Amino acid sequence: MPTIAPDIRPLEDPSLTVRLMEAGAMPLLPYVPIPHRALRWYLERDNAAENAQGWARLEDINELGRYRVVQGYMEAFAPGGAMLDVGCAQGLLQRGLRYASYTGIDPLAETVATAQDRADERTRFLVADGATYVPDREYDVIAFNETLYYFDDPVATVLRYQQFLAPSGVFVISLFNRLWFARRLMRRLQAVSPVVAETRVFSRQGAGWTIRVHRPGAA
Ligand SMILES: C[S@@+](CC[C@H](N)C(=O)[O-])C[C@H]1O[C@@H](n2cnc3c(N)ncnc32)[C@H](O)[C@@H]1O
Repeated sequence: MPTIAPDIRPLEDPSLTVRLMEAGAMPLLPYVPIPHRALRWYLERDNAAENAQGWARLEDINELGRYRVVQGYMEAFAPGGAMLDVGCAQGLLQRGLRYASYTGIDPLAETVATAQDRADERTRFLVADGATYVPDREYDVIAFNETLYYFDDPVATVLRYQQFLAPSGVFVISLFNRLWFARRLMRRLQAVSPVVAETRVFSRQGAGWTIRVHRPGAA
């Protein structure tokens, strides 16, 4: 469970993402066809500021809903299962999650380091690039929680991880549904991987997330 601050504290140096939210630009975003390449460039540039602040924005109370849905789906579709979290950052998704084993991977070494005090015999946080990471085991659930935008080819990335899913395993994918690119990506993912559950979460600031469960074995 994420640690939630009761008051939303302004960040000292808000990233562009936070500035966009504060400017009330969210309702307009879906209609702006920002191509993936531009979005990725912007996000990776913004990552430096986010990393420096320990991804504090993700601990905002308005993000709570999507974490709860992602966690709920992971536990419902893979109770007591083996879970892989691709792009785990400081491991917020792991907090309060019930599992037999959890592996979180992220290329940001400084951010991953902040999660290491929670590592134990069932829990590990690894510095690794999700584009090339080769899991050393099969997983019951693989989560891409607000991370697919960062990959050169998000659909190919999901399909590559399919070989590391248990036969009845699932992907839990959260995408920011205010983005033109994310909406397109959801349609493309749905075309290659059956969707067996979906929930949409909206914050009062106008942010919105679509969380879907894909079960390749359901095809
Ligand atoms: C918006 S944050 C989401 C973090 C986390 N999933 C959460 O929701 O709490 C995006 C994360 O994706 C990670 N990321 C970026 N490129 C990645 C890659 N190639 N492989 C794995 N993770 C990546 C970033 O380092 C960052 O931690």
